[in-house]
Amino acid sequence: MNDQAGKRMKRGLTILGIESSCDETAASVVVDGRTILSNEISSQIDIHTLYGGVVPEIASRKHVERVNQVIRKAMQDADTTLDDLDAIAVTYGPGLVGALLVGVSAAKAISFARGIPLVGVHHIEGHISANFLAAPELEPPFICLVVSGGHTHLVIVRDYGEYEILGRTQDDAAGEAFDKVARAIGLGYPGGPKIDRAARDGRADAIAFPRGKVSDAKYDFSFSGLKSAVLNYLNTQKMQGNEICVPDVAASFQQSVVDTLVSRAMAAVDEYHYDKFALAGGVASNTALRNAAKQACRERGISFYCPPPVLCTDNGAMIACAGYYEYQKGTRSGYDLNAIPNLPLGER
Ligand code: KG4
Ligand code: ZN
Repeated sequence: MNDQAGKRMKRGLTILGIESSCDETAASVVVDGRTILSNEISSQIDIHTLYGGVVPEIASRKHVERVNQVIRKAMQDADTTLDDLDAIAVTYGPGLVGALLVGVSAAKAISFARGIPLVGVHHIEGHISANFLAAPELEPPFICLVVSGGHTHLVIVRDYGEYEILGRTQDDAAGEAFDKVARAIGLGYPGGPKIDRAARDGRADAIAFPRGKVSDAKYDFSFSGLKSAVLNYLNTQKMQGNEICVPDVAASFQQSVVDTLVSRAMAAVDEYHYDKFALAGGVASNTALRNAAKQACRERGISFYCPPPVLCTDNGAMIACAGYYEYQKGTRSGYDLNAIPNLPLGER
């Protein structure tokens, strides 16, 4: 037996994760759900920036062009062959249907050709699972705030793959609010990282934007009122002939989002008495949100978890990790696995 084969034999359960729900084509090889051997992400941001947001048809076409090379690169970087794989995990919802279909079709094709078990993964379950990759000691139960471009969910992670949703957004997702406000103040797409950066030079208390409240659901979120308040502010300033201070608007808007997210999340932590809290999703990269959540956890004496930005954004490693725990529970998908654009969390 040569060294290479010997090394492979010692590996644990090896899963290829594939993600294509929005504008990242991604693939990764993860061992035993926690060790990342490779994490290849091909972002389409440059293309969609030309249009000020993700164009679904273009996203699907780019996924088709890139998916095979991204998978090949992830396998090469991990020094893994298809024979080494125990399963292939793939995002099958929620997301853009045409985009999801590309990853699902690629995963099904490899699974069918090589007889490798297939595991369909929920995208939000993937985001939550990124925390297991970043913190090997983390085990459920804990409370997780998932904030991305399409979702804002406050969730109790009872066990691997077992979730209770405490609250969600009733209108715009947190990331969507960042993207829309960024466009309105001329920062362009993608809005979240640009507002994050601009806000560092602004005053968070410069403009008193509202904190979105939902009267009959204490853990739900609403960001459309805040978005309208920013637009009204911009119009009023324009009509009065005043210059807009972009960093101040960015910092004040961001502070409103952060206050709303952290206050709701900590109310849940206090009510349910969990000693661990985690952030997940693209918006979890936000500096102000990370700092505020970390501080709130420190004040309560509870542990704070947040993946590094490369695992907050859409990636294949989080899908492989979630797929590992599903696989261990016996979950297997058939070749009738389809893309489900509005797949609810916790349902298969
Ligand atoms: O999780 P993700 O990569 O894709 C979805 O599942 O939607 O999240 C993308 C979202 C975008 O709305 C983007 O503007 C936002 O995450 N985002 C941020 C930051 N980085 C990405 N929002 C605020 N601050 C950031 N640093
Ligand atoms: Zn995502």
